[in-house]
Order: sequence, then C-alpha cells, then structure tokens
Amino acid sequence: MEPKKIKRDIFWVGAQDWDRRLFDALIPLPDGTSYNAYLVKGSEKTVLLDTVDTAKADTLLLQLKDIETIDFIISHHAEQDHSGAIPQVLKKYKNAKVITSPKGKGLLAEHLHIPEEKIITIADGETLSLGNKTLEFIHMPWVHWPETFVTYLQEDKILFSCDLFGSHLAVSGLYSSEHWKVCDAAKRYYAEVMMPFRITILKHLEKLKKYKIDIIAPSHGPVHDSPECIMQSHMEWVSDKISNTVVLPYVSMHGSTESMVDYLTESLSNKGINVERFNLAATDMGKLAIALVDAATIVVGSPTVLVGAHPLVVSAAFLTNALKPKLKFASIIGSYGWGGKMVEQITGLMSNLKLEMLEPVLVKGKPKDEDYKALERLASDIANKHRENDIA
Ligand code: FEO
Repeated sequence: MEPKKIKRDIFWVGAQDWDRRLFDALIPLPDGTSYNAYLVKGSEKTVLLDTVDTAKADTLLLQLKDIETIDFIISHHAEQDHSGAIPQVLKKYKNAKVITSPKGKGLLAEHLHIPEEKIITIADGETLSLGNKTLEFIHMPWVHWPETFVTYLQEDKILFSCDLFGSHLAVSGLYSSEHWKVCDAAKRYYAEVMMPFRITILKHLEKLKKYKIDIIAPSHGPVHDSPECIMQSHMEWVSDKISNTVVLPYVSMHGSTESMVDYLTESLSNKGINVERFNLAATDMGKLAIALVDAATIVVGSPTVLVGAHPLVVSAAFLTNALKPKLKFASIIGSYGWGGKMVEQITGLMSNLKLEMLEPVLVKGKPKDEDYKALERLASDIANKHRENDIA
C-alpha cells in the first residue's frame, strides 16, 4: 500500500477498514470506516498527524517504509482508533515526540502508557514551524472528547479536523467529491457521535469562520476537497432549525401496537407531517439517530413486557436521551395486557430532554374504535403544536 498524495509533501497514510461493522461495540458501520493519518514533510521537520487503530498499525507502517525521520506525531484525540498505533510508530522513530493538548497528555499516558517525557503539550493558537510550512493548533474540546484539538496548515489552507466533519465510510478514493455516499455517512456520524455536543460544536464552527479552508482532512472517511458542503451541512445540523417530522420508534409483539402505529402514521401524514418510523426489532439504530437530528416530535410505541416497556424500546429511549436531539414534543402509544408503568418508565428515561409530553394513548389489548379516535386526537395535538411553533 502506497501513501496517497493530497498536495506536494502532504500525504494520506491511513487505513481503510472495509469489513468493520460495529464501533464502540454499539454503533453500526454499514459501510465500514477508515482511520486517517496524514504525513506532512516540511523543509526542516516531518510530522505525522494522528495514527490508526492499533489493529491496522502494520498498514500505517508499510506506508511509512521510505520515511527515515518523523520529528513529531500530532495526537489530536486520544481515542484509540487514532492514537492506538502511536506506540508502534514511536518504536520505529525513537526520537519522535508526541504533540497533544494538556488534557490529551494525561489521556495518552493512561490509555496507551506513553511515557510522559515523550509528550509535548501545545496551547490554543500555538504554532509549529516545519521550515516552509506552519501548523497552527486550535483547541476544540468536546468534539467529542475533552482533549480534542485540530490543526490548520497555514500555507496550504488545510484543516486537519480530527473526528469533526468525519464519516464512517471505507472508500477506495481519496476525496469526498468522488463518493456519493458521503453526505449520508457524514450525517450518520454527526448523529451518532457529535449530536450531544451540538451547542459546543456551533461555537467551534463560528471559531473556524476566520480561516480560509481549501481542504478539510478529517480522521474518518474521505477528505473534503470542496469543504463548503460539509461545513454548511454541519451548520444546519447544529442550528436550532427543526423539521415538521415525527420520529416513531416502536416494537409490536402481537400486532396491536403496530396497528396503532399504522393508524397514527396515516393520520399524521394526512395532516402534512412527515413520519420516520422504525420497527426496533429490525432497524439499524444509526438510522433512528439520523432521523433525530432535526425532528420536532418523538412518539414511542411499545407493548408491555413484565409491566414495563419492551427492552428494545427502553434501549431506544435511553439512546435518544443520551444523544440530546432538538426534539420539542413527545408522546407514548402502545398496547398492554393487564397493566404496567410504561409511561412513567419511558418519561423517566428521556429526562435529559426538555420535552412537552402530549397525552399518551394506551390500549388494553387490541385497539377499538374509541382508541383510534384517541390516536386521531393525538395526531391533531401534534399538528397543532407544530403549527403554533411555526414548524413547517
Ligand atoms: Fe474517531 Fe473519537 O475517535
């Protein structure tokens, strides 16, 4: 495997992970992922920006086979998919120093046992001259860990953005303009990884506005050779803008809850509201996360299992709460056998979210005419709330 040239003396030296299907033992990766590392050769110093997951260390080292000296390894983020191969690189380049943020120093020492004397910390705005090239370090905490920073290569106007602007996507080419899947993959990545830090990311995007950026080189997925598109998408995702959409995750065991979901879907649709429904027994949770990026309302559908909500619904409610989407309204529908505490349980699981709860519709057994009328009332309540709040 050979390095891929981005510009003169600037190379992608990462690894594609075509077959990985799960990240953090949680996040589905339908299209694999990549761990992007970059090599920048200045007239006086050579730097490696990030490494790769430790499982792919050999791929990185193969691409560095003709590189005699690396002066600095820049570790933007201590999570092991980028820092994991630092020990192997240090083993080959014994004089190299690791550059990171003050918080990154502790994390690298704890997670990878990198000796503290090998680590140099940088301040926000500090620069490093490589001779004919200058790196500017910009602290960017909470995208999505507290130690993260990004690097701007001043002369070439390249932003090495770490996880920000990334996508879990393995590709054969280098640039996002060559890959039609990038926009969807980037939204999935934002939804699953960055959404809980929306307000912080908005501030970071404002901070980046003063930089002229020709290329964004993230640490996952393709390099953005036309960065306006990915920047604009992120501005929209982190904005307060919400859409006239109801997200409807549900489980049905014997068809009663599903018939309620069918009725509500039709009724909302007739009122001009977009419905994104997910049968949790079959869906990819990443798709649910994507739908939550700008939806106005969530309606959770569940039968009762051992007096509570179905475990898959519990998991989806927990995830929704953790992702902190912009949702404004919520409700619960479902069928029960003989009783339970489903409403209290689901409401409690989503307590991070400042939601206005609309009257739930819970049915004993198979829904009857009056139950469908109650669903009609719920659809009208949602439509009224959206209208009153100018959600179009
Ligand atoms: Fe791609 Fe947060 O590591």
